[in-house]
Amino acid sequence: MSDVPFQDTTRIDARDKVRGKALFGADDARPDMVHAALAVATIGKGRIVSLDTRAAAAVSGVRLVLTHRDLGDVKSAGFLMAGGYGFQSLQPMLSPAIAYRGQPIALVAADSLEAAIEAAALVETTYAAEPISVTLDATGAETINQADTPLKNFIPEVIAGDADKSFADAPVKIDARFTSPPQHQNPIELIATVAEWNDGKLTIHEGTQNAEAIRHGLMAALGLTADQVQVISPYAGGGFGQKNSLQMQTVLAAVAARRLQRPLKLVVSRAQIFHDASFRAASRQRVRLGADRSGQMLAAIHEVDAQTSRHDFMPAEFAAVSSRLYGIENFRGHERLVRTDVQTPGYMRAPFEHGACFAMESCVDELAYALGKDPVALRLANDTKVDPITKLPLSSRHLSACLERGAERFGWSKRTMAPQSMRAGDGTLIGWGVAAGAYPGLIVPTVARLKVTDDGGVRLSIGGHEMGQGIRTALAAAVARKLAVPPEGVVVLVGDTRIAPQHVTAGSWGTASAVPTASDAAEAMLQALDQLAPGRSSNQTPAQILKSVGRPSLEVEVRRKAPGQPEAIYERLAAGLPCVGGPIFADFVTFSYIAHFVEVRVEPGTRRIRVPRVVSVADCGRVISPRTAASQVRGGVVWGIGATLREASEVDPRYGGFLNADLAEYVLPVNADIGSIDVEFIDEPDLQFNSAGAKGVGEVSLTGVAPAIANAVFHATGRRVRDLPIRVEHVL
Ligand code: MOS
Repeated sequence: MSDVPFQDTTRIDARDKVRGKALFGADDARPDMVHAALAVATIGKGRIVSLDTRAAAAVSGVRLVLTHRDLGDVKSAGFLMAGGYGFQSLQPMLSPAIAYRGQPIALVAADSLEAAIEAAALVETTYAAEPISVTLDATGAETINQADTPLKNFIPEVIAGDADKSFADAPVKIDARFTSPPQHQNPIELIATVAEWNDGKLTIHEGTQNAEAIRHGLMAALGLTADQVQVISPYAGGGFGQKNSLQMQTVLAAVAARRLQRPLKLVVSRAQIFHDASFRAASRQRVRLGADRSGQMLAAIHEVDAQTSRHDFMPAEFAAVSSRLYGIENFRGHERLVRTDVQTPGYMRAPFEHGACFAMESCVDELAYALGKDPVALRLANDTKVDPITKLPLSSRHLSACLERGAERFGWSKRTMAPQSMRAGDGTLIGWGVAAGAYPGLIVPTVARLKVTDDGGVRLSIGGHEMGQGIRTALAAAVARKLAVPPEGVVVLVGDTRIAPQHVTAGSWGTASAVPTASDAAEAMLQALDQLAPGRSSNQTPAQILKSVGRPSLEVEVRRKAPGQPEAIYERLAAGLPCVGGPIFADFVTFSYIAHFVEVRVEPGTRRIRVPRVVSVADCGRVISPRTAASQVRGGVVWGIGATLREASEVDPRYGGFLNADLAEYVLPVNADIGSIDVEFIDEPDLQFNSAGAKGVGEVSLTGVAPAIANAVFHATGRRVRDLPIRVEHVL
């Protein structure tokens, strides 16, 4: 059945969303709720010397002002990537120490949001400031080999063959350096918490990708038991890695709500999101790529410095993807972390893969020009059937098909190779660029419960989070197609710790993890119905079968894990810890792939860069939900245009923090910046990876956009820009 394409269906929650009926995490206002606001540190690093909350407390309607003096035995829940649950290990307000500008120093709760905001601004603080290092090249920024940190235990360096020797011997060499600024994701739904205590039990309503980490993080921070905390997140309005763990304000909200014995709502403001949540680390990269004169790539060396905080080692996994784009036998990756005085950076859609593909695919374009070879033909000539690092077979790889289909749809054969050789009638420079992207194939263990009732109800309760990507729609489609019921009749419950363990939904593993489990649940349901009514007619609905035997409902539970994972993985799952399988399995390796073809137009006078046209062809295995998958790719391309031509979080080395902390000054593409985005899927199932044949699509869609644009800018202007974002001044 999995080799039959899925039909296009609308989002099952589309009507609810456009009518405002879909309640996002913290939209669920509780009776008698108080509102909270945060006061934040205005130094880059140091200590609080004095803190005066009298003026804040005197504001009419203020019920509580919490500072580091009031948190008692609250503990840090630890860093997600070091065995804990938080986006960083530093829980603000546990001491007078300030690690970065913007760190919360007080929480004010009041009857109205206005009173809380007014009072938070009246908290008076004096500090003892210390010197700071907030950029990669600052004095005092400490650079450390990732392989010398505890991360070495689960992130090995990516090495195959002898890259240094092979590069030295290569007849054609490319050697280039790249930089990327810090960038911040700005979800439409701000990070927000409603905390509510009833009879000693805490319920958190919060848009998140990781309800279970919030739950277990609060247990660790507040000394609670599992039966005392539940987290409910029916929707998240954008969760591209930033909402993947316990947020710092959630702990503070829970403490304040307990003190007041009233439900409390805390919305982190747009400016505070730049400082109180994770972001994409600044990075600098060097790629050396060696080839023979026929264009065979022989060696690559990929060195990366990525920003981290002073208090955590945020992993950098750039080489894991740059090493997988082509069949390069000699590869050496090397990642270093640069400790700076910021909150811990984190995951942001294709957190490493976007930057890694920018560097590697820019170099591949340079190689094409060095050899005088067509950039598509050069890529096709370096395809591989085996994973170049492990030598294991790839479960599926259709990158060449992506390149060929994309070239045809785009009209690539009409391109002339020389830079500045294509112009519009008015003199506008036209550039056509191509680049590939890849993203690891990952699966996490998932538990599903499926219930059918004699009134026609079908309800799936499963691990997963709906953050706009459309997982409900994909899950409903998977169940509906097995049970032969309409997808819009399937109620899908996700993001709720009361219904099933909720593994973090990230890494584009949501569909490949949850859809096979949902399919299994539907299969188990068909078998249970067979047992209930042997010899039943195959065109009877589940409800008809239940009615025929006089049974009101039937429920099945199934669980599923990544290939090769031990049974004990379900205990980690229940403990809210990451349980990620892949991309390297015992017998195979899995990646998703994409090829982007981009047209840029550069105005001859102003040099303004436009992207009127993109063609993207993705290999994400079987497409489970064609409409939401295509929407994922378009969203990835839009984000890629922003990441390449617009987005940068500006840093003043003297003061720390991020200067352009609002949507007016953190420049994003708007509708007028986006032209045609034409999406096609190869739609070949990868049944070795999982029984649904699906691979991830959300993140691979952003990989390769940046180099495709940069390569198009080179083709238009003759300028090779290696620093993001690419701006007018780069091509003057
Ligand atoms: Mo994604 S950056 O793994 O949520």
